[in-house]
Amino acid sequence: MHQTLSFIHRYEPSARAGAPTLLLLHGTGGNEADLLSLGRMIAPGAALLSPRGKVVENGMPRFFRRLAEGVFDEDDVRRRASELADFIAEAREEYGLPAPIAVGYSNGANIAAAALLLRPEVLDGAVLLRPMMPLRAAPAVDLNGKPVLLLSGAMDPIASEDSTARLASALGAAGATVQHRELPAGHELSQADIAAARSWLASAAREEPIGVVISA
Ligand code: MLT
Repeated sequence: MHQTLSFIHRYEPSARAGAPTLLLLHGTGGNEADLLSLGRMIAPGAALLSPRGKVVENGMPRFFRRLAEGVFDEDDVRRRASELADFIAEAREEYGLPAPIAVGYSNGANIAAAALLLRPEVLDGAVLLRPMMPLRAAPAVDLNGKPVLLLSGAMDPIASEDSTARLASALGAAGATVQHRELPAGHELSQADIAAARSWLASAAREEPIGVVISA
């Protein structure tokens, strides 16, 4: 655990030339260790930067406040996305990193989506696992060419189809190269998520039609 920068975090340097740099963002109740093994599985040898969310809800770390399940405190979303973006810039300088690809799960996917929409310069792309649209309205932003993979679960009781579709369409409208896949899963991650994320990361800039939904 490193505490020197503005977020408690873990950092693992790259072990393979040409491997991407991943920013790992855990779900509610997780921490900076949670997604390290996922990161190693989906991008072997990648540099991994994994912060712990600073908001604590009933003892559970998160990346922004919510008022109820699925009802976000949008002022806090904006403030925390900016705080996370500042941390990414600090960590890039400290560790000599390129702009990372975010890999976020659930609440971590939602803060990654907010950072993309509000501070797009800090991310090179994103893998959003069970994401929702974190803002009421999408800001005018240029995401031209940034690759984004959204993986939703057909039986997910938390991230609704409508909210994920609104996010996919906002990212696509801003120019991101969006691939949206719906997997036969709930809110929890499955082997299919790992396989899909791994193959997408291996060719992250692959052009796909914007907003397309492909069932597994
Ligand atoms: C959120 O609060 O970001 C979403 O509802 C996902 C969750 O953390 O349960």
